[in-house]
Amino acid sequence: MNTHIDLPKPFFVLAPMDDVTDTVFRQVVQSTAAPDLFFTEFVNVDGLQSPGRPKLLKKLRFAPTETRLVAQLWGKDPENFRKTAEQIADGTFAKELGLPVGSNFVGIDLNMGCPAKSEVKNGTCSALILDRPLASAIIKATQAGAGGRMPISVKTRLGWGEIDHTWAEFILGHNLYMLTMHGRTKKEMSKVPAHWDEIGKVREIRDKVAPQTLLVGNGDVMSHQQGVELATEYGLDGIMIGRGIFHDPYIFSEDSQWVHVDREARIELYKRHVTMFAETWQQNERPIHTLNKFCKVYINGFDGAKELREQLMQADSTTELLSLLHSARTDVLSSR
Ligand SMILES: Cc1cc2nc3c(=O)[nH]c(=O)nc-3n(C[C@H](O)[C@H](O)[C@H](O)COP(=O)(O)O)c2cc1C
Repeated sequence: MNTHIDLPKPFFVLAPMDDVTDTVFRQVVQSTAAPDLFFTEFVNVDGLQSPGRPKLLKKLRFAPTETRLVAQLWGKDPENFRKTAEQIADGTFAKELGLPVGSNFVGIDLNMGCPAKSEVKNGTCSALILDRPLASAIIKATQAGAGGRMPISVKTRLGWGEIDHTWAEFILGHNLYMLTMHGRTKKEMSKVPAHWDEIGKVREIRDKVAPQTLLVGNGDVMSHQQGVELATEYGLDGIMIGRGIFHDPYIFSEDSQWVHVDREARIELYKRHVTMFAETWQQNERPIHTLNKFCKVYINGFDGAKELREQLMQADSTTELLSLLHSARTDVLSSR
């Protein structure tokens, strides 16, 4: 186990996205154009340390080939963060997930940025921006649980109601391995363009108070090239991309050819996704409709895509979906 992750500069990260970046989608992205680091969806530590644990394990599930995966945690009780970090670092979770000895996460990230009502109402995620003593207790408890065996990072926003760099400075006072700054406040949700100039100011603070902490910028990045330019302009160590992946599954490639990928290859990619989904989530742990957002990603950008999507989204089993994809692909081949 290592407290250091080998990363290029700038490095690229696929953002954690609930109900999107499960092990299946991460493996697809790994096969198209892999970023340097992946995050799990956020998983609640209070739930993990309760009788509800088995139900939440799906959020942490990963394949042995996923060797650059950070587990993202959220919750309220520092003691549950401590226990969860301990069980991640000592391999308990990897074992419970049935992974071979030696497979594990490479780090633990703390979600202090999600603005969703249910989390905020509970005083968790971005609400921690308003509760610095609790935010601090959570970081310290996680660090204690990991016991120096794993890097600990935080993902947060520029402030609550307004941009407040004392928040970033406060967080950076905790000797983190990495800080990801989403360039908006909680109040702004996703409604305004990300303030990259303010992420640049956080980098200046980082240079003064925590030069050892890697700083990752996040918000609205739509290509690898744009990410490199932003990292250079603002002196950042890394760039995290979330929704950009919906427009280009090859976004982490230096020279994405996605616009030139033909109908047949797009259908084939979705087929691969659905096949892996069917193999991975056999107990109906993820409802089939969660695939619809991926349907939009792949079945796009060719004549008849809309009609095909409409047909595919009606399917109520992966078997039916695969059979429709098979026929759609056969149609393409026979029309040549
Ligand atoms: C569907 C969806 C789910 C998300 N789930 C999470 C999450 O589990 N944890 C987290 O830290 N951020 C989550 N986010 C926020 C993203 O990680 C990212 O910070 C945000 O989308 C801005 O980056 P982007 O403009 O590149 O998408 C989510 C965003 C979306 C769109």
